[in-house]
Amino acid sequence: MGHRDLGQPRLVVVSNRIADPRKTAAGGLAVALADVLNSTGGLWFGWSGKIDDEAPQGEGKVHVTQAGSVKLATVDLCRADHDSYYLGYANGVLWPVFHYRLDLADFDAGYIAGYRRVNQLFAKKLMPLLRPDDIIWVHDYHLIPLAAELRALGCTQRIGFFLHIPLPPPLILAAIPGHDWLIRALFAYDLVGFQSQADLSHFAGYVTAEAHAQQVEEHRWRAFGRTLEANAFPIGLDVEEFTTLTHAPEGRDMYERMRSEYSRRKLLVGVDRLDYSKGLPQRMRAFRHLLDKYPEARNSATLVQIASPSREDVEAYNDILKEMESLCGSINGNFGELDWMPVRYLHRTVARARLPGLYRASRVGLVTPLRDGMNLVAKEFVVAQNPEDPGVLVLSRFAGAAEQMREALLVNPYDTEGTAAAIQLALSMPLEERRERHEHLMKTIRRQDVHWWCQSFLAALEKAQAEVKGTPWL
Ligand code: ADP
Ligand code: F6P
Repeated sequence: MGHRDLGQPRLVVVSNRIADPRKTAAGGLAVALADVLNSTGGLWFGWSGKIDDEAPQGEGKVHVTQAGSVKLATVDLCRADHDSYYLGYANGVLWPVFHYRLDLADFDAGYIAGYRRVNQLFAKKLMPLLRPDDIIWVHDYHLIPLAAELRALGCTQRIGFFLHIPLPPPLILAAIPGHDWLIRALFAYDLVGFQSQADLSHFAGYVTAEAHAQQVEEHRWRAFGRTLEANAFPIGLDVEEFTTLTHAPEGRDMYERMRSEYSRRKLLVGVDRLDYSKGLPQRMRAFRHLLDKYPEARNSATLVQIASPSREDVEAYNDILKEMESLCGSINGNFGELDWMPVRYLHRTVARARLPGLYRASRVGLVTPLRDGMNLVAKEFVVAQNPEDPGVLVLSRFAGAAEQMREALLVNPYDTEGTAAAIQLALSMPLEERRERHEHLMKTIRRQDVHWWCQSFLAALEKAQAEVKGTPWL
C-alpha cells in the first residue's frame, strides 16, 4: 500500500499510545499502526506519554511534530486525568473485564468521570486539526466514547473504531456499571471493527439483548436512531518489513549468537508484555510439568521468556511480576544443572530488530494467553522461521489468532498437562510435518497482512458513511 494519493481523504489515526513510526515499540497496536502510517502518511493523534502536573483537569498542552511522512500530535495529561482514565477506567475496569477477569476489575465510581473527561479533551484538541474530508480511525478501549464527543462538537467526518482487545460475552459486559452508556457511544461511529468472529458475535448478542438493536443487513445493526456497520477485521503483520528485519544484520547476528550459545539444545521462546492476560504463570507451570513428566526434555530444552514491563502502577501487574520471579526461580532451582538453566527470564523489552533472530533460533514458540484480542507475536514467530527447517507454534485457543492459525498446535492454557504434552509434541515434530504446518500458516499470514487489514477496514469505512449520511446523531 503506497501513500494515499492527492485528492484521497487524509487518514487521521487516534489512539491512546502513539509511537514514532520510525522507532521500535512494544504492544500490538503501536507496532501495527506504525506500519500502517509509515506507508499511508497522515496524522496520528494521542497521549504524549507525559504527565503535566501543572495542567488543570480536562486540559493538556498539544505538541505537533513531523516524523517522516506522519504528523504526530500529542496531548499531555494531568496526574488526576491520567490516573482515573488510563490506570483507572481503561486498565482497571475495561482491560480486565474485556479479558474475562471480573475478579480483577476495580469499579471505582470516580474512574468513569476521568475517562469521559479525557475523551472530551481529546475531542476538543483534535477538532481544530481536522480537515473536512478527513477519514478518522479511532483505536482501542481507551477511546470508545471519542466519536460521540466529536459528534457533540459538530464533527461530521467518517469515523471508524477498531477494538484491539476481545469483546466479552454479553453477560460479562453487562457487569460493568454504565455498560449501556459505553455501548450506546459505539453507535456514534460509522464502522466498528473487531479482531475475531467471536467478538463480533458477542457484540451482536449484546446489542440485540440489551439495546433491542435490529439487524438490518448482514453486518448492520440499527439502534438509538442510527445504523452501525460492524465486522471482524483480524489484524495482520507487515510481513515484508518483518522478513527484511529477519535478514538484516541485527536479526542475523541475534540468530547466530543464540544458535552458538544453544548449539546442543532446543530453544523455546516466549515474548510478551508482562500482563496477566498472557498466561505466563500457566506457561511456566506447563514447562515445569514438561521437565517433570518428559525427562528427555531435561538438559535439552531451554525456555527464553522475555516479558516487557507494562502498566506497573496497576496493582494486578505487580502480583504477576512476583509470581513470575518465584516460578522461574523455583524451576531453575529444582531442575537446573551446573551447566544448564531451564528458564532464562528477562524482565525487559528487546529491540524489535533482534526479535526475528530470537524467534528463528527457536524450535518452539509459546503463545499461550488466557485471552487475547489477536496476538501479533504468534504471527511474528511464524514469519521469522526458516521455511526449510521451521519451528512449531504452540498457540492458545483463546487468542484471537487461533481463529486464523489452525495449523498451530492449539492448546488450552489452563490445562497444564495438555499444554506440556503439546510442547513435547512440538519439540519432537518431524521435519515434514513442521514444513507443512508452516507453509499453511504463512499463506494465511500473507493473505491477511497489515495492509489487507488497513485497506479492508478503510474501504468498509468509506462505504459505511455513504449509507448513513444524513442520519441524525442520537
Ligand atoms: P499486546 O498488544 O497485548 O501487547 P501483541 O502480541 O498483539 O500483544 O503485540 C505485542 C507486540 O509488541 C509485538 O509486536 C511484539 O513483538 C512486541 N513485544 C511484546 N513484548 C515485547 C518485548 N518483551 N520486547 C520487545 N517487543 C515486544
Ligand atoms: O494492543 C492492546 C494494547 O492495550 C494497546 O492498546 C496498547 O497500546 C498496548 O496493548 C500496550 O499497552 P499500554 O499502551 O497500556 O502500554
